[in-house]
Amino acid sequence: MLNMRGKEILVVLCWLLGVIATMSFGVDVTYDHRAVVIDGKRRVLISGSIHYPRSTPEMWPDLIQKSKDGGLDVIETYVFWDLHEPVQYQYNFEGRYDLVKFVKLVAEAGLYVHLRIGPYVCAEWNYGGFPLWLHFIPGIELRTDNEPFKAEMQRFTTKIVDLMKQENLYASQGGPIILSQIENEYGNIDAAYGPAAKSYIEWAASMAVSQNTGVPWVMCQQSDAPDPMINTCNGFYCDQFTPNSDKKPKMWTEDWTGWFLSFGGAVPYRPVEDIAFAVARFFQRGGTFQNYYMYHGGTNFGRTSGGPFIATSYDYDAPLDEYGQLRQPKWGHLKDLHKAIKLCEPAMVATDPNITSLGQNLEAAVYNSGSACAAFLANIDTTSDITVNFNGNSYLLPAWSVSILPDCKNVVLNTAKINSVTLVPSFTRQSLKALSEWNYINEPVGISKDAFTVAGLLEQINTTADKSDYLWYSLSAVFEANETFFRDGSKTVLHVESLGHGLRAFVNGKLAGSGIGSSGNAKVSVEMPVELVPGRNTIDLLSFTVGLQNYGAFYDKTGAGITGPVQIKGLKNGTTIDLSSKQWTYQTGLQGEALNLPSGNSPQWVSNSTLPKNQPLIWYK
Ligand code: GAL
Repeated sequence: MLNMRGKEILVVLCWLLGVIATMSFGVDVTYDHRAVVIDGKRRVLISGSIHYPRSTPEMWPDLIQKSKDGGLDVIETYVFWDLHEPVQYQYNFEGRYDLVKFVKLVAEAGLYVHLRIGPYVCAEWNYGGFPLWLHFIPGIELRTDNEPFKAEMQRFTTKIVDLMKQENLYASQGGPIILSQIENEYGNIDAAYGPAAKSYIEWAASMAVSQNTGVPWVMCQQSDAPDPMINTCNGFYCDQFTPNSDKKPKMWTEDWTGWFLSFGGAVPYRPVEDIAFAVARFFQRGGTFQNYYMYHGGTNFGRTSGGPFIATSYDYDAPLDEYGQLRQPKWGHLKDLHKAIKLCEPAMVATDPNITSLGQNLEAAVYNSGSACAAFLANIDTTSDITVNFNGNSYLLPAWSVSILPDCKNVVLNTAKINSVTLVPSFTRQSLKALSEWNYINEPVGISKDAFTVAGLLEQINTTADKSDYLWYSLSAVFEANETFFRDGSKTVLHVESLGHGLRAFVNGKLAGSGIGSSGNAKVSVEMPVELVPGRNTIDLLSFTVGLQNYGAFYDKTGAGITGPVQIKGLKNGTTIDLSSKQWTYQTGLQGEALNLPSGNSPQWVSNSTLPKNQPLIWYK
């Protein structure tokens, strides 16, 4: 018989053993048809996307804490291959790219992580997150059953998984990572890749499983995801989604809280009432994992914006705004929603919902386990408020709303009724500094360094390897005096066709015209009047990209730049001269980039109280 002291020691020993067991072996993460199962328990999980390189390490703890305060259980992030391996085999995990630090901070806050490795990520990120050097590997075809591509994808995936394992970051090792994603929405575009798509996705699944992370893998928007991959839904609404096996839980990996901003586009806005409705509908109809894309969108720093024409701000109208401030009432209303859903968790994880109609556009779902009962009542009519009878009581359901009853009787929240504060932040305007505090540097027109000459027009991305957004195309052409006459009083024109995304044309050093594509159609086709002189003329075309394509079948081959034709039309007697196959001279990048002007530190800045005007190309600070 043990005395009291002995019993106490035994209890402490058992506890210690438990702690040690958890530390060294971590928790088991599995799934069944209802939910992700952590340590033997089914869970209702609320998740939110925060992409670590879209904010600064100084911001991370605060963003994570605000996510926790907002009722999140999980933080989701993609992994950005191009940042981590800008040059093949040369890795960077410093500063904003410090993935390990980010994951550890999430763990310190007591939250889980969903690591979406991809490594194709889409994400409005330059080239979908692929490093450009991939494109130049001989024989490579991206995102299909192609050996050189698969070798690189496997190498990077293994690199990331190993990094996480070394730091014990998988839940199976006692860390916060409970889920991982391979590929991204391939099912949306796989038809274009023919039969190779199927074998690629099967390979991707088994390659992922062979990583032995000890936690489940998901594939989003991939209805044929092979077992044991969980296929998940992305969209504004996912309540109608069902996974491809009755052994998999219903999961929503991207609930779009707003949308990304394109240059020239409207600033996106999604009302919180609609998000809350969509989330409640999802949980009403059997969902148990839901992720907000984005919870904090942040900023596309440097040249990371995808495209074409995706803006620097990635605010996304998310619950935390670009600067990390609470966006109210979005953040607060969703917090209230999460509390209401969590009150239903015991009933929700115990059983499947019993879904019945309460009338036209009216639906009830009851989770009744015997010991716990929770109900969701939905009015999916977009205009009419309706009173319904449920379990002998009547409930007023506003149009397009869900009421949540964690005890099957009392409504704790209706998604259309906002109780949280409506706080509209006020921004103070500050006038720009006096003009005298501005600095400038002129950028020369045309070739100034490292040029090469070839016959014909070159596609831009293959030429620059995306080292810069800019490529000069320069031509020196001789015109006879009788060619340069204007015909019928109409001017001679320069006609330029480009795959995009924008261009400026200079003839004999003077700006002749410009053209710019749009996010919907990046191509540019312009005609501009030009004045040619008899004898030698210089044509300098500056082509620029505004974020490389990140989405679509074969998006990596979209191309950019002036691929022609380039013609001079309207010469004497109506002749057109095609310049496309002439000897063009090329220069990647601008002089200002070589001087590192974007960093703002070059000693060459000129400060002058009168700023130059009507100059073709100027850098301003
Ligand atoms: C999805 C994609 C995300 C992101 C989103 C739009 O299709 O998976 O990476 O691009 O669209 O913001």
